[in-house]
Amino acid sequence: TPPSLVIAVDGPAASGKGTVARALAARFGLPHMDTGMLYRAVALSLLRWGGDPDSEFAALRACDAIGSLIDDAELRSETVGGVASRISAYPAVRQALLERQQEFAGQPDGAVLDGRDIGTVIAPGATAKLFVTASPEVRAERRVAELQARGMPVHYPDVLLDIRARDERDSHRSAAPLKQAADALLLDTSMLDREAAVAEAIRLVEARLAAV
Ligand code: CDP
Ligand code: CDP
Repeated sequence: TPPSLVIAVDGPAASGKGTVARALAARFGLPHMDTGMLYRAVALSLLRWGGDPDSEFAALRACDAIGSLIDDAELRSETVGGVASRISAYPAVRQALLERQQEFAGQPDGAVLDGRDIGTVIAPGATAKLFVTASPEVRAERRVAELQARGMPVHYPDVLLDIRARDERDSHRSAAPLKQAADALLLDTSMLDREAAVAEAIRLVEARLAAV
């Protein structure tokens, strides 16, 4: 049997990691998991139930109820993203979501996962690791366009502040902070449209595969 191909895609909010991860999954015929949706589901479950996001215990309880929320339209809102970024700092929450992600990464053919800590914590032995980034301004513009297309009211300066706050929290927490793994390939999409970013990601992964 051919060896499994695990591709880890990490990066900050709206860097294009989801776009790149989905395209890589299609290109290599692999299943894809957007792990941010797990943290968003915990956040939404907590918000609906009225639990306190400042309590690690409450956030851990919210992890039990995420099954029914996986397709909820509200998952994509900035409110949910902000709470997700807060509850994702709790080690107990990260631990509760670990097994599900590692099982997904361990499928026989392999898998593509995108998030913040895939290359560093979830799948440190991944075949190929990409760290996708872009300037905060470009990422805020993308997030604005995305939310407007969904009919959600947005204001660029607020979105930029929110992106900066989330970068700060995600990079400075002690549990699995957002950082480029030593063996991850950097993909800066600031100057790349979707098509160019995807083409570059495929090129990087193919070059990596040719080297192993
Ligand atoms: O799409 P966007 O990058 O805005 O957010 P996301 O990937 O859906 O993740 C929402 C929040 O979950 C992030 O701000 C992170 O704090 C957290 N997260 C994480 O801690 N670890 C992951 N593997 C994925 C997301
Ligand atoms: O997963 P992440 O939050 O990192 O980003 P995404 O969902 O892949 O991309 C955020 C938004 O930027 C989406 O609307 C993408 O279509 C768009 N995008 C872009 O305009 N140019 C790129 N090179 C990549 C993504």
